[in-house]
Amino acid sequence: MKLARFSRLGFILAAAGSAVGLGNIWKFPYITGEYGGGAFVIVYLITVLLIGFSIMIAEMLIGYLGRRDTVSSFEELAPKHKNIWKFGGFQALAGLFIMIFYSVVIGWIFNYIVTSLTYLPASVKESQAVFTTMLHADFWTQLFYNTLSFGIITYVVHKGIKGGIEKLNFYLMPALMVILAGMFLYATTLGGFSKAVHFMFYPDFSKLTSQAFVVAVGHAFFTLSLGMGAIMTYAASLPKDANLVKSAFWVVFLDTTIAIVAGLMLFTFLYQYGSAPSQGPGLVFISLPAAFYQMGVLGNIFAVLFFVALAFAGLTSSVSLVEPMIQYFIDRFSWSRLKSSLAMGLFFWFLGIFAILSNIDGAKEYLTWGSKSFFDWVDYLTAAVMLPIGGLIMAVFVGFIIPESEVEKVMKPQLKWAYKPWYFSLRYITPLAMFVVMLSLMGVI
Ligand code: PFF
Repeated sequence: MKLARFSRLGFILAAAGSAVGLGNIWKFPYITGEYGGGAFVIVYLITVLLIGFSIMIAEMLIGYLGRRDTVSSFEELAPKHKNIWKFGGFQALAGLFIMIFYSVVIGWIFNYIVTSLTYLPASVKESQAVFTTMLHADFWTQLFYNTLSFGIITYVVHKGIKGGIEKLNFYLMPALMVILAGMFLYATTLGGFSKAVHFMFYPDFSKLTSQAFVVAVGHAFFTLSLGMGAIMTYAASLPKDANLVKSAFWVVFLDTTIAIVAGLMLFTFLYQYGSAPSQGPGLVFISLPAAFYQMGVLGNIFAVLFFVALAFAGLTSSVSLVEPMIQYFIDRFSWSRLKSSLAMGLFFWFLGIFAILSNIDGAKEYLTWGSKSFFDWVDYLTAAVMLPIGGLIMAVFVGFIIPESEVEKVMKPQLKWAYKPWYFSLRYITPLAMFVVMLSLMGVI
């Protein structure tokens, strides 16, 4: 089946839309807080440049050469061993699994948009109570908003690459950037800004644990949407004359800039209005609303705008998480786009119910294994295991399986002198790094 084509700008916006997500605005600030600030940021930036950028190009290349859904692209590019390599394409399943909790978190964000219009908690303690009540006791609100998020995402993807995904990103990405830029500029006028800069850029290497390295690599994958075929699927719809290196550069640049701008802005508000930076996953849901409360009515406006931006970031990532499997069923089983979109949507919506229940008092006891709830397991298994394995497969596939002449033909004119170092790093450095990260995340080393 022939894919509709992105425009060149459309592709960059959609790939950046995929990359810029809850990972940038929700996760990056709190892990920076947890792992000590500046030194962690430096390790993360180096990882993004050395490993993230080169895998991003490799993933784009597979899609660009394969031109089909992830499974078919792997088969097409490894004709001799297609029965083995096609499993590489099933990494697309990771996207559906991520959606199980991602959609629930987007639901929380919708809820916060609505409540922040009229209410903000007066203290961190009150804020904590509001959040935990929602999380542990309010099943119906979470289900309602998760259903809303399922509805929006399914509607957009059923409209297709051009009419749905490209259009969504075309409006939401600029809107997201304008909101963040406005709030960031305001933050620079506050006294807390210099403290935030110091926290994020002053490296205190004594705080850097080996765990921080691993978290930085894992997060580089998650935030750049690598290792599960999202970027690959989008690249299958690239125009023939597209420049992969330039596109990858823009995606990495936008993703990194937005993470840093969001981090600086958040920490400024937290320093200015009195919460500590290391607050864990509740940072934006607990500490931030309490900080906004101190600003009076302006705080309500800021809170709503902030959660709207966060919802936009989450939605543009969500469509890229489901699209690879949607494409797979359309391509391989001749399903209509509507049927495929609905089926994938219902999959994550239905399992999302269990993700919600796994935090609800009275039900969570049945949905917790070891020290982790179902919600936490899905998060952990996708980010810690599936994405690094996906990245490893892609590096090996481009480094060893696709004939070098084919790789060279496309990449050498684009990468020029950097071609050889890129190819070397893909073959040896990246696989080794990914392997170590995986073992370490799984607790083996
Ligand atoms: N990059 C997204 C984020 O930072 O929130 C999450 C994500 C999207 C991960 C798409 C993987 C993916 F394929």
